Amino acid sequence: MLNKVEHIALAVADLEAAIDHYSKIWGLEVEHRERVEDQGVDEAMLPIGDTYLQLLGPTSPDSTVGKFIERRGEGLHHIAYEVDDLEASLADLKSKGVPLIDEAPRKGGRGHMVAFVHPKGNHGLLVELIQASDH
Ligand code: CO
Repeated sequence: MLNKVEHIALAVADLEAAIDHYSKIWGLEVEHRERVEDQGVDEAMLPIGDTYLQLLGPTSPDSTVGKFIERRGEGLHHIAYEVDDLEASLADLKSKGVPLIDEAPRKGGRGHMVAFVHPKGNHGLLVELIQASDH
């Protein structure tokens, strides 16, 4: 069901400062930046091999990521797995009783269709499933 780890996402308070850190200290470069308005995030994608580090900054303090940072501080936010058939994966998880945040695929960053799986019932890990793109 899972093809690969598409990205690992960190919630960061200051996106510019985090990009600067990962560039200077770890030698990573930003390949893509985007504001996903309905998720309340500014995201930057930094390739590592065939996966990405995703830095997530809040667009406002009362956005989901803003509240996350206020509650728990900066750190691991979610892991994204690529799947071949997002609808089928969601149906499979649902049939196994795994609580979903998104019952249906929705549009995420970079034009991908995504869905989030609730950390409750998943040993505390927020998972994002990403439909493998054809291009
Ligand atoms: Co993500």
